[in-house]
Amino acid sequence: MSAPSNNTAPVIRFSDVHKSFGEKKILAGFSMELEKGQTLAIMGPSGVGKSVTLKHAIGILTPDAGSVEVFGQEISKATRKELAEMRKRMGYVFQEGALINWLSVGDNVALPLRENTDLKEDEIRERVQRRLELVHIPDAWELMPSEISGGMKKRVGIARALITDPELILYDEPNAGLDPEIARSINALIRELQERLGVSSLVVEHRIDCIRTVADEVLFLDGGKAVVQAKPEEFFNSSHPRLARFFGKDSA
Ligand SMILES: Nc1ncnc2c1ncn2[C@@H]1O[C@H](COP(=O)(O)OP(=O)(O)O)[C@@H](O)[C@H]1O
Ligand SMILES: [Mg+2]
Repeated sequence: MSAPSNNTAPVIRFSDVHKSFGEKKILAGFSMELEKGQTLAIMGPSGVGKSVTLKHAIGILTPDAGSVEVFGQEISKATRKELAEMRKRMGYVFQEGALINWLSVGDNVALPLRENTDLKEDEIRERVQRRLELVHIPDAWELMPSEISGGMKKRVGIARALITDPELILYDEPNAGLDPEIARSINALIRELQERLGVSSLVVEHRIDCIRTVADEVLFLDGGKAVVQAKPEEFFNSSHPRLARFFGKDSA
């Protein structure tokens, strides 16, 4: 199905997606939907395919079977040009921040605009400054990545993901490597961006406090499939045996 772009379709839809690497089956009938304005968290054991799932949503990976639709369009059927247009509508926050070490904070944030748009330098500078303000680091432009903390690198990564005004943001473990206090400030920022900008988000994370702060729903990925999907209160109180085992609450 390669439905044309429309407003009623979910922002992301995975339908019965299968993906293997060699002999290793990672996704085996994975389905999920992300509605407009919603934040869905994906949780699951390490190595289960959470990052692989995000990479399907950006079109870095394509399914062996099944389909991945983003903005109502099947991503594996998109032309290179269509894919580039789709990617302008998405922001991706990498686990390690993925800043370029020899570029200043401001130039890192400006990169997607310099690479993908014909905007004039004045306009680029103004947009970058607004994004730095949005993530609460208004004076960081001239700093180099080696001079800033892990929490600030995350903020810069988020500012860069926001620079093209995306409708959809994908976060890969936004709390990884952060102490609890800084993690809380990042989670509050993610929530604030959802509320202020109305973006849809997919958040891969295993920190419970993060999920409680940011997620409308939580999906547990295991064995290549969505095992449970529920609102956070329901999810964390669930008596589902797989979740009980994951959280160490089983009596066995
Ligand atoms: N491009 C790739 N080529 C081969 N194997 C991969 C590739 N990407 C991921 N994998 C494998 O898929 C599995 C799931 O990876 P990943 O999605 O990164 O796990 P996680 O749930 O921890 O994010 C891992 O075993 C990983 O080694
Ligand atoms: Mg991962």
